[in-house]
Amino acid sequence: MPKQIHLAAHFPGVNNTTVWSDPEAGSHIEFESFVKLARTAERAKFDFFFLAEGLRLREQGGQIYDLDVVGRPDTFTVLAALAAVTTHLGLAGTINSTFNEPYEVARQFASLDHLSDGRAAWNVVTSWDAFTGENFRRGGFLAEPDRYSRATRFLETAKELFASVPAPEGFLRDPSAGTFAHQDDHFDIAGRFNVPRSPQGRPVILQAGDSDAGREFAAATADAIFSRHGTLAEGQAFYADVKGRLPKYGRERDELLVLPAATFVLGDTETEAQEKARIVRREQVSGATAIKFLEQLWNRDLSSYDPDGPLPTVDPDVSDNHIARGRASVRMHRDPIAVAGEWRAKAEAEKLSIRELIIEVTGRQNFIGTPASVASSINELVQADASDGFILVPHVTPGGLDEFADKVVPLLQEQGVFRTDYSGPTLRDHLGLRAPR
Ligand SMILES: Cc1cc2nc3c(=O)[nH]c(=O)nc-3n(C[C@H](O)[C@H](O)[C@H](O)COP(=O)(O)O)c2cc1C
Repeated sequence: MPKQIHLAAHFPGVNNTTVWSDPEAGSHIEFESFVKLARTAERAKFDFFFLAEGLRLREQGGQIYDLDVVGRPDTFTVLAALAAVTTHLGLAGTINSTFNEPYEVARQFASLDHLSDGRAAWNVVTSWDAFTGENFRRGGFLAEPDRYSRATRFLETAKELFASVPAPEGFLRDPSAGTFAHQDDHFDIAGRFNVPRSPQGRPVILQAGDSDAGREFAAATADAIFSRHGTLAEGQAFYADVKGRLPKYGRERDELLVLPAATFVLGDTETEAQEKARIVRREQVSGATAIKFLEQLWNRDLSSYDPDGPLPTVDPDVSDNHIARGRASVRMHRDPIAVAGEWRAKAEAEKLSIRELIIEVTGRQNFIGTPASVASSINELVQADASDGFILVPHVTPGGLDEFADKVVPLLQEQGVFRTDYSGPTLRDHLGLRAPR
């Protein structure tokens, strides 16, 4: 039996991968956009709909970053509304464990699980710097190394709350009185949970975070990981790494799914798809965007540079990141001088301008081709244990999934590797996960 593929729809977001110049591009705020993508995903029998989270407007060089859309609505509000217009599709929200409180988040997810009849999923993230926290705690909150310790306790506490109606023995301070209590180094919670046990017992837990501590947290507690590793070699290495951590926690290989983010561009022929992908990449990286990306590595104001000209000869500033606080892309550049050297060498060898170079080195389209070749590539990666499926990120809001749903999904279904209908009502059923222990 081949492995079954899991697919999710990522609502395109607030970054340059979403092409807003496309004539089909619509609002990322209006409810109809969310409904459109969710209904397409459900029509195609996807496992779930996914919302990322951004809690603060991004900035660069002290200015609001406004080259792509600015801001987004609240996750729970959107997912609760979507629960009313869908019947089977899972509803996954990214909610931070650093700036929230477990009692409140547990109530929100248990409520979403009730409203949706068992379709809620929580993508637990920690974020990495105080920038976002400045809107939540006085002057930001929690040093980076403490974030997974808080996340671990946060999730433990939430899981106790989900399970506390009726309260299991272990969490009763005084079983005869039925008093609930949770105390640890982060939380001291007195109250018993006030939302009845939800259809899935608790929401499906996703995790996104790539550090060693993040992977360990996922292996110990998550049902699925949202990763960045969508190619064959990187995917297989990540898959083996995280699945290899499971036995330590008494968990089986199939208790943790690996779902990388993936983009796609479809065409009637391979050549047409390649050409479309090239156009999409150019739309994703305007000259102004290219300069902003360059600044994130150089950690300098490069606004006077011509995006159609050569790379700066001056080296990156390796002092504290001051140009773009809170940006993941900045944090991922661990050795800026070395990366700048590689980029210069590549630009020189291939005669690339700043913009052309940035198009090459940032982002990439995972699946480019005809529906048949894309279906084969997806299946090959899943069967080769590079993933258990993908969280697809269309580049157009809200109609960017239509073609995939109409042309690729039927081929996966014909190959017997993707469901032709939902086999149960809950997200846990779609993902093939057992009931929580
Ligand atoms: C694929 C992927 C998607 C993520 N999406 C979000 C997001 O939507 N919002 C967010 O605040 N953090 C997001 N994160 C980052 C998390 O905040 C994560 O907790 C952070 O990277 C710190 O963990 P780490 O040091 O283990 O990577 C994402 C991370 C990955 C790998």
